[in-house]
Amino acid sequence: MSTAGTPRPIAPAQGKLGVLCVGLGAVATTFIAGVELIRRGKAKPIGSLTQMGTIRLGKRTEGRAPLIKEFVPLADLNDLVFGAWDPVPDNAYQSCLHCGVLDKWEHVEPIKDFLQAITPMPAAFDQHYVKKLEGKNVKTAKTKKDLAEALRKDIREFKAKHGCDRLVMVWCASTEIFIQPGPAHQTLAAFEKGMETNDPTIAPSMLYAWAAVMEGVPFANGAPNLTCDFPALEQLAKDKGVAIGGKDFKTGQTMLKTVLSPMFKARMLGVAGWYSTNILGNRDGEVLDDPESFKTKEESKLGVLEHILQPNLYPDLYGEIYHKVRINYYPPRGDNKEGWDNIDIFGWCGYPMQIKVDFLCRDSILAAPLVLDLAIFFDLAQRAKLSGIQEWLSFYFKSPQVAPGLYPEHDLFIQQTKMKNTLRWLMGESAITHLGVEYYEYGEK
Ligand SMILES: NC(=O)c1ccc[n+]([C@@H]2O[C@H](COP(=O)([O-])OP(=O)(O)OC[C@H]3O[C@@H](n4cnc5c(N)ncnc54)[C@H](O)[C@@H]3O)[C@@H](O)[C@H]2O)c1
Repeated sequence: MSTAGTPRPIAPAQGKLGVLCVGLGAVATTFIAGVELIRRGKAKPIGSLTQMGTIRLGKRTEGRAPLIKEFVPLADLNDLVFGAWDPVPDNAYQSCLHCGVLDKWEHVEPIKDFLQAITPMPAAFDQHYVKKLEGKNVKTAKTKKDLAEALRKDIREFKAKHGCDRLVMVWCASTEIFIQPGPAHQTLAAFEKGMETNDPTIAPSMLYAWAAVMEGVPFANGAPNLTCDFPALEQLAKDKGVAIGGKDFKTGQTMLKTVLSPMFKARMLGVAGWYSTNILGNRDGEVLDDPESFKTKEESKLGVLEHILQPNLYPDLYGEIYHKVRINYYPPRGDNKEGWDNIDIFGWCGYPMQIKVDFLCRDSILAAPLVLDLAIFFDLAQRAKLSGIQEWLSFYFKSPQVAPGLYPEHDLFIQQTKMKNTLRWLMGESAITHLGVEYYEYGEK
């Protein structure tokens, strides 16, 4: 049965799209520099689905598989302009060199002028929420509400100065300390009151999210902070018709986890234990060395197995699983993280087996294309008037934000199917179910 329908009206992707990064560190600068290198024909957008991915349409026999960017109306890379906030005053060129992700001579110096022109706006920052960081480029104000209003002003001024048609904001800043939703997060009135009275459960990331939504700017959260994952912000996003979502870019170890664990479940193989440890030496690693920031990250990483393996449904297979995640700050490695996984599984008659994974990855190289896709897809969502939580973009997140009462979908390939079916639905094409009933209907009328 075809599920094809009427395409959803989508405003055209005309004019400039301003991409506002909160944080101008390793991920943000690798993303920005990479886009410029691609625009100049010096690099390829590897890792980006919006730039390289295709989408099958209709039956396999139809042979239709256009590039996603030719199927849905997406912003063109040449129309992107970049802005950022950071408590560290370094411009994007200095930050690129400091972070040491991209090769200085091959990838940074050739675009020096472009990167130098991107200087961070003073941040809404408070060291209480990121203990290991000190910043001089910060806003001062009496209340959090004043800070948030100053961010709104920045947004408006950036838009006017750069002649942007639309904006999108992506949190690429440090992981804040662990905060659980409390009274100040339940209603918009309580949240706004909390900003006025400097409620300690309102972190800077929440101020950015509030400012973005108030300005009609879609907001994606690349870190595990609460940020916009609470009722007050969700309601505001709905009321204002703004797209929001998060949390935490799904890049390295957790991406592997969300591929391997569905395999165990699909084959009904048991898991006794999963020990994951990482060493990394960038500023993110330093920030995560603080137990309070690590706690936020840990929560984001731990939830994955529980949701995928469903020990409540399969107590014999996953009821006793021992899951541990460690992150160790180890400066010599810089941005080149090493993530080890030891997985103790068991099979027929309970016989034990082991799997070892050693992922020598580059954190920001994996994260940069995600920032690009999120900026481009959140802009699409906004133009298609998909407001509130963008669950169809769970594909990009370690800890996907979902509507109250729903559990998040973590399996990478279910997330991919959901995302591609959403694109098909937007354009009035049939969803692909992989059912293939034609096999059994030969000869029948
Ligand atoms: N693969 C990945 O790299 C990956 C994956 C998932 C999540 N993340 C998350 O992405 C974020 C960025 O990672 P990174 O490697 O670029 O870290 P980074 O430390 O290099 O950059 C973060 C930047 O944010 C700035 N910052 C901190 N608080 C701020 C605030 N209130 N306002 C504006 N700027 C602020 C810092 O000064 C710093 O320059 C981290 O939270 C990290 O946990 C990264």
